[in-house]
Amino acid sequence: MPEALIADFGKTIVAWQHRHGRHTLPWQNTRDPYRVWLSEIMLQQTQVATVLGYYERFLARWPRATDLAAATLDEVLAQWAGLGYYSRARNLHACARAVAELHRGDFPRTAAGLQTLPGIGRSTAAAIAAFCFGERVAILDGNVKRVLTRVLAFEGDLAGSAVEKKLWDRATELLPDQEVDRYTQGLMDLGATVCTARSPNCLLCPVQPLCGAQQAGEPTRYPIKTRKLKRGRRENWWLWLEHEGQVLLQQRPATGVWAGLWTLPMFDDEAGARAALPGVRLETLPRIQHALTHFDWVLHTMRAVAPGGETPGGTWVAREKLADYALPAPLKKLIEES
Ligand code: ADE
Repeated sequence: MPEALIADFGKTIVAWQHRHGRHTLPWQNTRDPYRVWLSEIMLQQTQVATVLGYYERFLARWPRATDLAAATLDEVLAQWAGLGYYSRARNLHACARAVAELHRGDFPRTAAGLQTLPGIGRSTAAAIAAFCFGERVAILDGNVKRVLTRVLAFEGDLAGSAVEKKLWDRATELLPDQEVDRYTQGLMDLGATVCTARSPNCLLCPVQPLCGAQQAGEPTRYPIKTRKLKRGRRENWWLWLEHEGQVLLQQRPATGVWAGLWTLPMFDDEAGARAALPGVRLETLPRIQHALTHFDWVLHTMRAVAPGGETPGGTWVAREKLADYALPAPLKKLIEES
């Protein structure tokens, strides 16, 4: 990498963050690793606007890691319901317990130490260590990969792990000597607000004069990743049964999609759903399309009120108690809008 780039890049990002970055997000202006960690986990694959409400509710209910460690996994999943990627919630709970039990309630104070905890990968560990303890370590989340591959006109294919390692090395070389916390936030802010995936606003970009991709006139060519996710499609039928203000729910197995969450009794086909309630007239509701990482899920809802007689196994839950159960977002929406 050119020396001039290494010298200028970090300083420019730091100065830009001062003037144009975000400064008032609720997880900023604190060095409490619990708060920073919670925000970083929630912000993985999830937009700031969606995270805000969840973040406040989590902190109000569990102000410290030891409080979260004392909660049950079901309570944490219920509070997480709707945020998606539920393995994050399971790891969150496991991590709080590890901090409480192995570290007396205090998070480790280095990226290397943080990375030993459940759900904390290299980039998240670095973000917490930079924000809370000023450690000079690089982050490399999706947004930062985009910014750096563009600035560097990085031709490597990120589908390969050796190439990814090379980008980590570049990211480390680019770190400024000072204000790594502000630099880290600046990279995140630039990726979120200026160097966006589809329509980067290069006119507003502070590092435009240093940017290889911009000089080649092709910022969106980067990052290069050839291995594309092959998406599948799944289809299921679920039964919405209500009886005297109660809804029948079943808990999903501990592994797989929506692990541990509560859903309506689910079937592989329409015949299976009908066979579970012989002789009962079922109303067919509009189908629901739900996109997950690996597949698109089509859910067909069949509804019966006061079914009487034999029903599939499960737990009858009063409508006013539904908030205590971890319902996936499409089911929450379905029930709320009815
Ligand atoms: N995404 C991940 N971490 C973030 C942070 N600290 N601020 C804003 N967006 C983020």
